[in-house]
Amino acid sequence: MVQLTLPKNSKIRKGKVWPAPKAANGKKPKRSKEFKVYRYDPDAGDNPRVDPYTVDLESCGPMVLDALIKIKNEVDPTLTFRRSCREGVCGSCAMNIAGGNTLACTKAISDVSGAVNIYPLPHQPVVKDLVPDLTNFYAQYSSIKPYLQTKTPAPEKERIQTPEDRAKLDGLYECILCACCSTACPSYWWNSERYLGPAALLQSYRWLADSRDEATGERLDDLEDPFRLYRCHTIMNCANTCPKGLNPAKAIGEIKQMMVKRKV
Ligand code: SF4
Ligand code: SF4
Ligand code: FES
Repeated sequence: MVQLTLPKNSKIRKGKVWPAPKAANGKKPKRSKEFKVYRYDPDAGDNPRVDPYTVDLESCGPMVLDALIKIKNEVDPTLTFRRSCREGVCGSCAMNIAGGNTLACTKAISDVSGAVNIYPLPHQPVVKDLVPDLTNFYAQYSSIKPYLQTKTPAPEKERIQTPEDRAKLDGLYECILCACCSTACPSYWWNSERYLGPAALLQSYRWLADSRDEATGERLDDLEDPFRLYRCHTIMNCANTCPKGLNPAKAIGEIKQMMVKRKV
């Protein structure tokens, strides 16, 4: 018989309500905001929950990551999330905020009306709270051989590239591998073991488009598969969610065109 209920540990139970903070004068803060944060510890055996925290905005930085750090420092040290650079270049603070995948360090609290709902990146196993397990994501990135491959002897100095050829990498090299796009892609949700997903494919095209790379044929051979490349159905969630403003769907389209061109 078809199972019509969700698995036990996917049901979210009521969370712990943390007391609202007081301002320095002991009164209610002038400006405060509620943050509803997903909490889950797979090792504890309990179902996930959503904890509401109230943050005094007068003593908090402007970004969602500032609020999470404030909660961790001042209210609940067990809250777990990744972050490093705090300026949108490392990709580690990617999470689902107010219904969209983005970077907590570049998402302004003022952009969200009402309570700020914060969940881990969707459809990935959770290590703890807001930390997803990206092992499969990184293995797929590794599989596209994200480095220059050459066959001709190395020149005495560097391998030269014209400014025009270098410009072909714009819109590709800026990817910070945050996984916002892949975890927003419905095709990736359903086939993440076999479909490479928008991030790995954008990175693959970054090397296919590099005039210095000499493994184009092998790279395309590796992608010639009903799942690895062709599960993209141009739904465009990837481009809509990328916090760096990149367009993985366009890169995937360019790879498909290269596939067609080499056959004619
Ligand atoms: S393409 Fe954008 S959303 Fe996808 S991994 Fe790269 S930076 Fe993140
Ligand atoms: S355009 Fe392709 S890669 Fe991007 S979200 Fe849609 S199916 Fe996924
Ligand atoms: S902390 Fe590095 S991108 Fe947000």
